[in-house]
Amino acid sequence: MLNKIKELIVEVEKFQADSAESVEQFRIKFLGKKGVLNDLFLAFKDVPNQEKKAFGQNLNELKTKAQEKVDALKESLEQKEESAGSGLDLTMSAEPMRLGSRHPLSIVKNEIVEIFARLGFTISEGPEIEDDWHNFSALNLPEEHPARDMQDTFFIQTDPDVLLRTHTSSVQVRFMEKNEAPIRTLSPGRVFRNEDISARAHCIFHQIEGLYIDENVSFADLKQTLLHFAQEFFGKETKIRLRPSYFPFTEPSAEVDISCNICKSKGCNICKYTGWVEILGCGMVDPNVLDNCGIDSKKYSGFAFGMGIERITMLKYQIKDLRMFFENDVRFLEQFTKA
Ligand code: PHE
Repeated sequence: MLNKIKELIVEVEKFQADSAESVEQFRIKFLGKKGVLNDLFLAFKDVPNQEKKAFGQNLNELKTKAQEKVDALKESLEQKEESAGSGLDLTMSAEPMRLGSRHPLSIVKNEIVEIFARLGFTISEGPEIEDDWHNFSALNLPEEHPARDMQDTFFIQTDPDVLLRTHTSSVQVRFMEKNEAPIRTLSPGRVFRNEDISARAHCIFHQIEGLYIDENVSFADLKQTLLHFAQEFFGKETKIRLRPSYFPFTEPSAEVDISCNICKSKGCNICKYTGWVEILGCGMVDPNVLDNCGIDSKKYSGFAFGMGIERITMLKYQIKDLRMFFENDVRFLEQFTKA
């Protein structure tokens, strides 16, 4: 009797089925009302007492194994059916995940920040929606000043005191108001100007501006700092030249060109055959601006500079159309892999 049960256990363990019917037949044979197990349980009462224990244990094992077998076979058949029914092959390996890459403007912004961070500059940020004081008046651009026309401003609704910042100089005003000199800060951010969108201009773009204030800061400090930046960013052989310019918030002011890194100053269409390309505006902070922002202009002087991140990125990667930065075409974006 006991041996019979042991044989049945082996039979249950070995059983395999590839259809629901054979599983059902198996179930009926073992677990059905007139099945093997019921017969054996009925026979239990006739088993001699000393054998009852071993008999009972084996009988229970047979019952559990049979039940488990039925459950397992049913489940695997159901899974097979599901995947066949939906046309899915669940054994196929998953699609590989596509890793994104950093936006070229972020890559270049981070590189610029790293260069100035090594000179002790920290990052400051401010709101994109500004008021007149921080975007204009504090920067020596009083109302009705004609230089306001240089920056085609987006005003919000009818209140001329609410506008989209036209440059990140507004962040520097906020920083000077809150901090004491000496100051070394870098303000990257998005700016807005009411310009027609073309290959060379956009109504949204990005700037990074620097501000350095301390005792006895001179124009020579400004020039050397910018030369250092140009050579770190564009290569050691890069030269710079400063052309006199005008900004209301700096005096004297200059525009800075670098020697064309594309044709090595031989002349190409990027530098319009001059050998030089403009990269930024700069100057010594006008004493009026320092005083407006609560910094003693008798004691302190400083320089400021500002550059368009799109422009620097276009030069670095030789990108001809500024609109590419905003189209989010992955074929374009994927080419810039540096983290
Ligand atoms: N804010 C100026 C602009 O947007 C750039 C600039 C910054 C020029 C600092 C001089 C000094 O055009």
